[in-house]
Amino acid sequence: MPEIRNTKMPSNSFNPTIARMDFPILSQIVHGKPLIYFDNAASSQKPVQVINALSVYYSTYHSNVHRGVHHLSGLASNAYDSVRIKTQKYINSESEKEIVFVRGTTEGINLITNTFGTQQVKEGDEIILSEMEHHSNIVPWQILCDKQKASIRVIPMNEDGELIYEEYIKLFNAKTKLVAMTYVSNSLGTINPIKQFIDFAHKHNVPVIIDAAQAVPHMQVDVQALNCDFLAFSGHKMLGPTGTGILYGKLVHLESMPPFHGGGDMIASVSFEKTTYADVPSKFEAGTPNIADVIAFGVALDYMSRPVMKEAFEYEENLLNYGTKLLEQIPGLRIIGTAYQKTPVLSFVIEGLNALDVGMYLDTRGIAVRTGQHCTEPVMKYFGIPGTIRASFMFYNLKDEIDQLYIGLIESIKLLRK
Ligand code: ALA
Repeated sequence: MPEIRNTKMPSNSFNPTIARMDFPILSQIVHGKPLIYFDNAASSQKPVQVINALSVYYSTYHSNVHRGVHHLSGLASNAYDSVRIKTQKYINSESEKEIVFVRGTTEGINLITNTFGTQQVKEGDEIILSEMEHHSNIVPWQILCDKQKASIRVIPMNEDGELIYEEYIKLFNAKTKLVAMTYVSNSLGTINPIKQFIDFAHKHNVPVIIDAAQAVPHMQVDVQALNCDFLAFSGHKMLGPTGTGILYGKLVHLESMPPFHGGGDMIASVSFEKTTYADVPSKFEAGTPNIADVIAFGVALDYMSRPVMKEAFEYEENLLNYGTKLLEQIPGLRIIGTAYQKTPVLSFVIEGLNALDVGMYLDTRGIAVRTGQHCTEPVMKYFGIPGTIRASFMFYNLKDEIDQLYIGLIESIKLLRK
């Protein structure tokens, strides 16, 4: 094992070994080896506090929300509604009305393309996206552009996986109606300087939509400081249950938008002659919501809001530096995504090896990574590769686990390279 210098773990009150105790799944044995979970960018694991919240809800106060006068409905409604306020505080939005519950980032973006997007984008107009978008921030816009006969322009990136700002500003003209871009790349880990991109778009009166799915789990996000028009993220990548997500939108936009889905809870009154809609955010939340999971997502927010998380984020940065220096020493290994500012994501290829084969070999050693295009085909096209092996860390991962990844990769090269 090579010695890695200058990667001392912070000696403060955050202790990953103690943090791991909150995550029961991590103590499992997989294929005879202790599980090493490095697929956090796909979905994080859940602390016992979140798991218990689901069980307590279903065991003691499950009921539909906003519909009953009875005891249980009151408890469930209060718990559900309190999560909106927690989210408002977590991302520092001005009003809780700006927080719409959705199933995840993908639904949040589809909500925008089907409402605000349809209002803003007309025939001949242009939308700006970036080359490093996840498919969920490409395909909904393509569907919109097909419908409206509009077109997409793309912010290019460089070899490090950083967006080229000088090229971005050249994309603007009188036809530019929207910018939609990611805060953090899921396949490269790049943290984009989005404030700069937002400010420039606003000089041209162009609203900006931010995909923050990979940002919110690793840093503090402040929507007022960013001054973005919309921002979407998922609960399951930040310790919460699957099927939860948030769409933040400036009140002025949400109020002027038509509804997305029709049904109960999103109306003020219904008749066959004329239906009127509820105020925001209810206007966008048709039907019985995902009550249990939203309540448990609120517990994930409590967990992520603890002051110690600042140290946990610094620790994640440390893991990234440690892993980068270690993996760089493997002959034939090339890291894809070498931006100056990154979340703890290590995407790489190994000369002569197929990413899927490496992923399957690592699995036999209990190491979970993601392989392939990571729903970012244009990124892979840019780098001229079919896919990468991606190890993505969270604060509950250990330096020792990265050592195991290193050993697993050395062994996979011996075994798989012909
Ligand atoms: N978007 C998720 C990922 O990057 C699924 O793996």
